[in-house]
Amino acid sequence: MAKILGVGNAVLDLILTVPCYPKEDEELRIINKNYRSGGNVNNFLYVLSQLGHKSSIVTTIANDSSAKQIMAELDTRNINTSNVQRFIQGQTPTSYIMLSEETGSRTITHFRDLPELSFEHFAKIAVEEYDWIHFEARNTKNLQGMINIAKTFLTAQPISLEVEKNRAEIEEIIPLASLVIFSHHYAKQTGYKNAVELLKKMRSIAPQSKLVCTWGVQGAWYCEANEEIKHQPTEKTPNTIDTLGAGDTFNAGLINALIQKKTLAEAIASASKLAALKCQKTGLDNLLTKVIEKQPLANTEQLTNSKATIVPCSDLSHSVILIKYDTEIKAYLNNCPHQDVPLNEAYKIDVNPFEKTLKCSVHDAFFKIDDGNCIEGPCINEELKTVAIDIDDDGNIFLA
Ligand code: FES
Repeated sequence: MAKILGVGNAVLDLILTVPCYPKEDEELRIINKNYRSGGNVNNFLYVLSQLGHKSSIVTTIANDSSAKQIMAELDTRNINTSNVQRFIQGQTPTSYIMLSEETGSRTITHFRDLPELSFEHFAKIAVEEYDWIHFEARNTKNLQGMINIAKTFLTAQPISLEVEKNRAEIEEIIPLASLVIFSHHYAKQTGYKNAVELLKKMRSIAPQSKLVCTWGVQGAWYCEANEEIKHQPTEKTPNTIDTLGAGDTFNAGLINALIQKKTLAEAIASASKLAALKCQKTGLDNLLTKVIEKQPLANTEQLTNSKATIVPCSDLSHSVILIKYDTEIKAYLNNCPHQDVPLNEAYKIDVNPFEKTLKCSVHDAFFKIDDGNCIEGPCINEELKTVAIDIDDDGNIFLA
């Protein structure tokens, strides 16, 4: 476990989940609206907290109700807030984020009206108590002074720098860090066609630093001082749900692995795995909880037109009746509308493949396999509840 100091932004994220990204001048209904605290360094430290490290944030905080929410969430995220700089003037920075359900990608617009962290505030922090100092490359007016003063107090503790956007005088700050992580946004903004081109140039600026450039789904490129540039492809994920915070997760995974004395190549591989895990989950909570793969209820090969197959289902109140109907698969909740009991309570469910009916074993109600409607018996005209299912290309049947 290491003590990590992160210097950067804590913001409020307003996340609007939409079915797909809208065209200009289009109207679109939002599927879900969600407020949570965000900002690169905030997310980065939250992941490190979940990896077992002691995280502390250095950021500016306003005095409005959104700021209270951010402070409460930092507390819940186990991020120490004793080094935040409070301001009476200004409002909480807010990111308005559109998250596309179709692709899992996000588009961000940002509002900021809060003073930046002052050099004087940072200079009072006992940085020597920390094992790793991480800076977001923003607030460049004060950043160079902050890194320089930190270096005078640190002995061997690494300093990392995340360069996400092009900012004034950034190239003078880059060589001050022992690890620099560039985003492809920065590379594109500054006119580089690819990560290799960027890293070649940056190596001439910061020859002693470890350099990394992430490029979305194409993966990450990296190099140690005096070593060639290498590539780590992106980890394959079965389904991408939410990429918001994936970059921050990658950075946290990278630093976590380097703290454990892994090589840069091993650390990049480990960070890619963690980022891939994040993309399969919404948000950053319980990041390390294993993604549970959906278990199929059954396979179509197991089903026939002449027999009702009953499968237990922990996600529903009752088991599920599966049966073939012509070439279709029908699924009903195993619960008779007559007396709220399973259809096989007394005996098995009899199926008549010619009449295309199935019979409740308790009081002999007959239900049409086609639509679950009762056509004879004590609950005539009532119906079995349909269970929505999905069937994959291999014939596996899942709850929809
Ligand atoms: S419980 Fe099913 S018919 Fe009575």
